[in-house]
Amino acid sequence: MESLGVAIIGCGSVHHVHVDAIKNNGMGRILWFVDSEEERAKSSAQKYGGKWCTNYSKALEDPKLDLVHICTPHYLHAQMAIDAVNAGKHAFVEKPAATNLEAAKLMAESAKKNNKLIVICFQNRYNPTSLKAKEIIDSGELGKIKGVKGLVTWFRDSDYYTLSGWRGSFDTEGGGVLINQAIHTLDLMQWLVGEVEHIEGNVSTRALKGVIDVEDTADATLYFKNGARGIFYATNCYTDNSPIELEIHMEKGKLRISSGELIRIDDGEHKVLVNENSEQSPYKSYWGKSHDIAIRKFYECLKQNSKTDIIPLDDGLEALKIVDGIYKSSSTGKKIKIN
Ligand SMILES: NC(=O)c1ccc[n+]([C@@H]2O[C@H](COP(=O)([O-])OP(=O)(O)OC[C@H]3O[C@@H](n4cnc5c(N)ncnc54)[C@H](O)[C@@H]3O)[C@@H](O)[C@H]2O)c1
Repeated sequence: MESLGVAIIGCGSVHHVHVDAIKNNGMGRILWFVDSEEERAKSSAQKYGGKWCTNYSKALEDPKLDLVHICTPHYLHAQMAIDAVNAGKHAFVEKPAATNLEAAKLMAESAKKNNKLIVICFQNRYNPTSLKAKEIIDSGELGKIKGVKGLVTWFRDSDYYTLSGWRGSFDTEGGGVLINQAIHTLDLMQWLVGEVEHIEGNVSTRALKGVIDVEDTADATLYFKNGARGIFYATNCYTDNSPIELEIHMEKGKLRISSGELIRIDDGEHKVLVNENSEQSPYKSYWGKSHDIAIRKFYECLKQNSKTDIIPLDDGLEALKIVDGIYKSSSTGKKIKIN
């Protein structure tokens, strides 16, 4: 079967990871590099091979194009994905799906109407530690889940925001640490534990007050439909990017993902290293190492016309519902029902 025709929209820091993944899986050929900054589009086209343009509509007109990768600022994701599916193309969208839940729902409707796929890049679900934790939880061997905790303690300085042109403002980023950095952890929490029903949370701006309009710190209590309770804390005010920490407390023990390792603690504190994320990545460690897998799974699915092992938008929406619920809870002081 012929390789898939691809356009990369947004040639900033993360697009290199996408290009490498496409080259590694050998199932796609990049036809277009698109960036509103001409130099960026041109330089990627020269480096990797392909045509370039500054307006994605031009790439969408290409009959050889099967899908787009959307690697642009958050506020552009929704319209770009909707235009892509309306043009008969599939879309692989970097997280978050959109700057708010309503926009993401419109994306899902457009995908359905056009019978095209919009897949969200929550690559950390494919980390060996996440997959193994899911397998152990689903096997039932540790009993029912009682609780979960997720901690994200990262460092972002003022340059990260002021030099980007789009981060740090609600209009263009959609929020701060919650929607940008911590959304991966919130997604893992709901993917491993189940659907969240209610949320109480708080957001605030502390170390980056005066630099950004959005929050640099957030915390929440999550009430799951299955009775489990979750606690969550995220900040960009730490002095380093620590590995995320995730712990699932079950009737007969705990699973802990920390420093890229999955530890199983059976009753009596007997600790066993179950597995670790050992693959090396040439990119930022906190991006994880699983973009390759997420993109390969999507391409396999397009070629085989099956939906196994991908993260379609409907599924990816859950994390955005949690984010949205925390913002609403923070602004109203109330417990919010999200499902
Ligand atoms: N999954 C992950 O772990 C991960 C890691 C990093 C970034 N991301 C996500 O990837 C996306 C991009 O992040 P980034 O760090 O590469 O940002 P970036 O600012 O480095 O790059 C964004 C690019 O989009 C281009 N752009 C802006 N408007 C455009 C338009 N109208 N048409 C075409 N191009 C346009 C910019 O010129 C820029 O080159 C964001 O959604 C971010 O949250 C995800």
